[in-house]
Amino acid sequence: MTRVFISRDSTALSLGAEQVAKTLAQQASSKGQSVEIVRNGSRGLFWLEPLVEVETSEGRVAYGPVQAEDVASLLDAGLLEGKQHTLYLGNIEEIAYFKNQNRLTFARVGLTDPVNIQDYLAHDGYRGLKNALALQQTEIVKQVTDSGLRGRGGAAFPTGIKWNTVLNAPADQKYIVCNADEGDSGTFSDRMIMEGDPFVLIEGMTIAGLAVGATQGYIYLRVEYPHAKIALNQAIEAAYKNGYLGENIQNSGKTFHLEVRSGAGAYICGEETSLLESLEGKRGLVRFKPPLPAIVGLFGKPTIVNNVISLASIPVILDKGGEYYKNYGMGRSRGTLPLQLAGNIKHPGLFEVAFGMTLRELLYDYGGGSASGRPIRAVQVGGPLGAYLHEGQFDTPLDYEAFAAISAVLGHGGIVVHDDTVNMADMARYAMEFCVEESCGKCTPCRIGSTRGVEVIDRIVDGAQKDKNTVLLRDLCDTMTYGSLCAMGGMTPFPVLSALNHFPEDFGLEAAKA
Ligand SMILES: Cc1cc2nc3c(=O)[nH]c(=O)nc-3n(C[C@H](O)[C@H](O)[C@H](O)COP(=O)(O)O)c2cc1C
Ligand code: SF4
Repeated sequence: MTRVFISRDSTALSLGAEQVAKTLAQQASSKGQSVEIVRNGSRGLFWLEPLVEVETSEGRVAYGPVQAEDVASLLDAGLLEGKQHTLYLGNIEEIAYFKNQNRLTFARVGLTDPVNIQDYLAHDGYRGLKNALALQQTEIVKQVTDSGLRGRGGAAFPTGIKWNTVLNAPADQKYIVCNADEGDSGTFSDRMIMEGDPFVLIEGMTIAGLAVGATQGYIYLRVEYPHAKIALNQAIEAAYKNGYLGENIQNSGKTFHLEVRSGAGAYICGEETSLLESLEGKRGLVRFKPPLPAIVGLFGKPTIVNNVISLASIPVILDKGGEYYKNYGMGRSRGTLPLQLAGNIKHPGLFEVAFGMTLRELLYDYGGGSASGRPIRAVQVGGPLGAYLHEGQFDTPLDYEAFAAISAVLGHGGIVVHDDTVNMADMARYAMEFCVEESCGKCTPCRIGSTRGVEVIDRIVDGAQKDKNTVLLRDLCDTMTYGSLCAMGGMTPFPVLSALNHFPEDFGLEAAKA
């Protein structure tokens, strides 16, 4: 029986993976060839999806991108023995894009059957939890603090400090909430891990529960991720059946329950306090801080709210130790970041690497430059609230502080590429419009300011009192930055001002580059 791997990841499915899997099963069976098709996660090399991998004595041989109509010729050429074909790519793990990553969090994604708990256990799964069960709560938190892990959801707040706050907050009930709202444009690492290795997130949340004494967890999942929901629920069921969730986890006397809850399609519900409101069944309005969710969170109880990738990075930290994780990275940015390359790029996909690689290396050495073959003009890093970077900034290392120094953010690691046909005044207008659409409406600078922002940009582009309106736009951005209650209104000026400062010609202005 030959094992063949075809991804169940949404990207692969949208490119035809389901038809490829069905056709391969039918044609192999009619030829009397014995095949076991495993539906794995994606390796993240999206331009090669649907990718078909065949297990051979020399490792997994890959073919891609494969369409259903290629299956007959692949089988004739000897697909099941890993033989040559025009779609032959060789050993998947030798492809430079894959080989040169530091896959700590994504170690199993693409390798295993995502919902098979035995496969998870056979590939180092639940080793972190096993270690955590032998530690005191403070020792678990210390490992997380020592690792230097900072929240991967955007704000890069040290995870160990957050956990310590919840650990020290006295309460009869505490909660672990996973922020799986992943609303940023060009981001998909949360989705990929939930579809490709849901157990790693479940294990990370269970460890978090043990660490702070929380017995209930919720995964707040954006409604646009139906495949992730299926994978998570299948994995949660398997974890319960095998004693990794519920009462008396692995005979430890410890309890942790976990459920998935769906959002309703609002970007602002990714902001942690709106998320908690939504989880409580209310409209997603931002709460005032303080009190922090770590003290007064879900249903008024101390709550850890962490991003999917933050929580999915916990098992490797508890397995190999905080120091091991900390040895990757640069400066105060420790460990790895799963970067997501999207937009006008030849090799879109996921690239997990230690902090410190430059944007240029990523864009050209791995991304292969723009898909259109035209020069890359602007790159938005960190989602819709992230700054646009110009060519002169591409040598910036991917590091939180280096990005802050150029008034930019790394955020959730999403990178959206534009070639030289982009109009940056349109992009600035779009940023303001996005804020109009997605504002929760609680505070004036964001609710009203974004609407006025669209109008002012339109006036500048139309050439109406350009100088006066440019001053007004900068004033408005100041008000939004300093007067907004949350980062929705507070960070919308990042894309707007970076577009204005770096690409004034697109606004019909002549100012020199800032
Ligand atoms: C408008 C807005 C949207 C956000 N969306 C997300 C999101 O989709 N996912 C996420 O993890 N964090 C998001 N955040 C950040 C969260 O508020 C919070 O910082 C994060 O969930 C904390 O987890 P971490 O420390 O693990 O990053 C958003 C913040 C803002 C202001
Ligand atoms: S900045 Fe916008 S999204 Fe945030 S609280 Fe104010 S109105 Fe709501």
